[in-house]
Amino acid sequence: MRIALIGCGYVADFYAATLPNHPQLELAGVADRDAQRLSQFAAHYDTRSYGSNEELLTDSSIDLVVNLTNPESHFEISRACLEAGKHVYSEKPLAMKLEQARELTELAKSRRLGLSSAPCNVLGEAAQTAWKAIRGQDLGEIYLAYAEMDDGLIHRTNFREWKSESGAPWPYRDEFEVGCTLEHAGYYLCWLVAFFGPARNVTAFSAQIVGDKHIDPPLEVAAPDFSVACIEFESGIVARLTCSIAAPPDRSLRIIGEQGVLIVKDCWDYGSPVLLRKRTPFAIRLEKSRVGSRFISLLNRRLPLTRKPSFQFRSAGATAMDFCAGIAELADSITEDRRCRLSADFSLHINELTLAIQNPEQMGTPYRMTSSLDPVAPMPWAADS
Ligand SMILES: NC(=O)c1ccc[n+]([C@@H]2O[C@H](COP(=O)([O-])OP(=O)(O)OC[C@H]3O[C@@H](n4cnc5c(N)ncnc54)[C@H](O)[C@@H]3O)[C@@H](O)[C@H]2O)c1
Repeated sequence: MRIALIGCGYVADFYAATLPNHPQLELAGVADRDAQRLSQFAAHYDTRSYGSNEELLTDSSIDLVVNLTNPESHFEISRACLEAGKHVYSEKPLAMKLEQARELTELAKSRRLGLSSAPCNVLGEAAQTAWKAIRGQDLGEIYLAYAEMDDGLIHRTNFREWKSESGAPWPYRDEFEVGCTLEHAGYYLCWLVAFFGPARNVTAFSAQIVGDKHIDPPLEVAAPDFSVACIEFESGIVARLTCSIAAPPDRSLRIIGEQGVLIVKDCWDYGSPVLLRKRTPFAIRLEKSRVGSRFISLLNRRLPLTRKPSFQFRSAGATAMDFCAGIAELADSITEDRRCRLSADFSLHINELTLAIQNPEQMGTPYRMTSSLDPVAPMPWAADS
């Protein structure tokens, strides 16, 4: 399948670096409204640069467009791609407004085109291993999930010096003004929705807690840099998700059941350790004991991953994620004429949840979800035997 990228900024390098993991994807070329960035990126990866988005979209040899623009541009670019008859894989969020995300989903369906949104880390080995343990009843009845997406005090790091492989600076102003919830919540929401099915409602709180991020001129948008949400799934399971760029980095997940606790250390690492602790009478006594609880982690058993992280090509300095796995899943679903695991409905549901967590005052809290989705299938190599 011939693909093209619109947006050649910081994240585009993560895609270019992991593209060779998927030989079914062929890069036809790239476009960006920033001419200098476009030529730098196209020269670095020796690919064609299109003079404009329109020129790219009228190239009939391109099947699928990967939208790697800034979140504010996602809707207009994805809509133009769908209107031009291209399948679309968009960076998250699918859109900044729910009506826009709905419009894209309906447009894709009416034109019988594929539409998917990042993140795709639910397709990785750690997520699939955790999910298999859940399906296998290792935890007994599941009650709760605690998901953490804390990324540390970014404004106290040397973020101004962060550069991608081809030389794009980390777009800190945009990152801070979009906010860590829209940027990061999806990394766990896609796991939770795949594991537990559609959410029924979400009760959220979000706020800006670090007013001064040492940016000159100051930020124009006071996006939340902290949010916490309790999500109730149709299945009755409840999840608490926290996002911040204030608390020390922690990207762990705990899934809590009657018979066991499952722990994933880091959802940004496809090879992350996945641990299981059975809640035996001894373990429950130890959990409750002031001294014993210090040793509780000794009871954790590391589960073998359903397969070794198979991707060979990685992005320099970035997390151990295969950014192109989602594009490959979309392309394969089109070629094989089957439902995509990251379907348009799935992406819309994740987008709706994320917006409800980012904007509880505008959208209301508790917020009743309006979108839903069919069950998601595990990857073939992690299916139940
Ligand atoms: N920066 C990260 O670490 C990171 C990680 C994962 C995902 N993402 C996501 O990737 C997306 C892009 O982020 P980034 O960090 O690469 O941003 P960036 O600002 O570095 O790059 C975005 C590029 O898109 C181009 N662009 C914007 N609107 C356009 C339009 N209408 N037409 C053509 N080009 C346009 C800009 O000129 C820019 O070169 C965002 O959705 C972000 O959430 C970023």
